[in-house]
This record gives sequence, structure tokens and C-alpha cells, in this order.
Amino acid sequence: MNRQTTIPFRERNIILIGFMGAGKTTIGQLVAKKLYRDFIDVDAEIERRQGMSIPEIFAQKGEAYFRKVERELIVDLCTNTRLKILSLGGGAYLQEEVRRACLAHGIVFFLDLSWDYWKEERLPLIVDSRPVLKNKTLEEVEQLFFQRQSAYALHHSRVVINELEAEQAADQIVESIKWMWDVYEPNR
Ligand code: S3P
Repeated sequence: MNRQTTIPFRERNIILIGFMGAGKTTIGQLVAKKLYRDFIDVDAEIERRQGMSIPEIFAQKGEAYFRKVERELIVDLCTNTRLKILSLGGGAYLQEEVRRACLAHGIVFFLDLSWDYWKEERLPLIVDSRPVLKNKTLEEVEQLFFQRQSAYALHHSRVVINELEAEQAADQIVESIKWMWDVYEPNR
């Protein structure tokens, strides 16, 4: 466990990472409700602050601009907030500065799902709304999926969500969080 931070374990933000369409927002909202915490969807917060949708930001300002805004917001949230549940866009965690801030100040949960499950069940639902999937062949998307796994592997805990209902995934996360709290801060 990374111990570069002085934020008490029980107050650290809980951060959900994983590939597009893994269910980070839905599951994050449920975890927030179960733990009586506020939920922040980083993509929604970027859209609110920029006054544009993510596809509009990509189209009008470019991906590099989006990544900069995304990185700055996440580092700020990690450094200056606590007791939140955060869900990150699927590409955010590829940025080293984002990973460092999340691992140092938060508890990072990787929502893992298999390529086959994702391709069958999730891809059809999101293919038209995610700019990074635009104009890519299935082979290219598969490559992106596997390329990202080495970054996602840097987490504190993992939940395999193939076949799980969002409610069940959220329950597993809450159970695992409570276990970590008891192990790392038994006397609080
Ligand atoms: C992206 C994922 C999206 C959003 C943007 C880029 C990515 O979020 O941040 O379209 O590069 O994987 P979701 O993971 O919520 O789809």
C-alpha cells in the first residue's frame, strides 16, 4: 500500500478506474449511496466546467486539450478533496501524473472485465458516444483494450465485473473497503 500521504485511510477518496463502458459511473453512484458520500464523475464535471460535451471538446479543442483538463482536475480532486467517490474516464489513468496522485491520496479500484464480455455486452452501447472509438476497427479497439491493461494493473484492489449486476459490484467494493479500513486503521 502506498504510504506517501497523510490523509487518514478512512477519509481517502475512493477512485474507480477501468475501460470505457465498464460501469464506473453507475457503480460509483451506488458505492457513494452505500457509504453516504458524494460522488463525482470526472467526465461530467469536465463537461460542466467547459460547458461542452466530451465529444464536442474532442472535436473543437482536440484530445490533448481534453487530457490536460482531465489531468489537472483529477490531480486537484485527489490533492484537495477527501471522502468522495470519483469515477475516472477510461483514458485518464494512462497519464502518469494521474496515476501517481490517485495512488498516493486515494484508494484505487479497478473495474475489470474481459475483452469478450466487453465486446459483446458493452461496445454496442457506447460505440457512438466515445470519440476514441470513432473510426477504429474492432482490431484497433482490441489493441487499445489490451494496451491499457498495464496501467490499470496499478491499483489497490480489483473487482471482476463480468456478469455482475452493478448493485453486486458496488456491494463487493463496499465490503472490500470496509475490510481495508479495519485492517489499516483498526482503532478508528
Ligand atoms: C475515454 C473514456 C471516456 C471519456 C473520453 C475518453 C477514453 O470515459 O473520458 O471519451 O479515452 O477511454 P468513460 O470511460 O466513462 O467512457
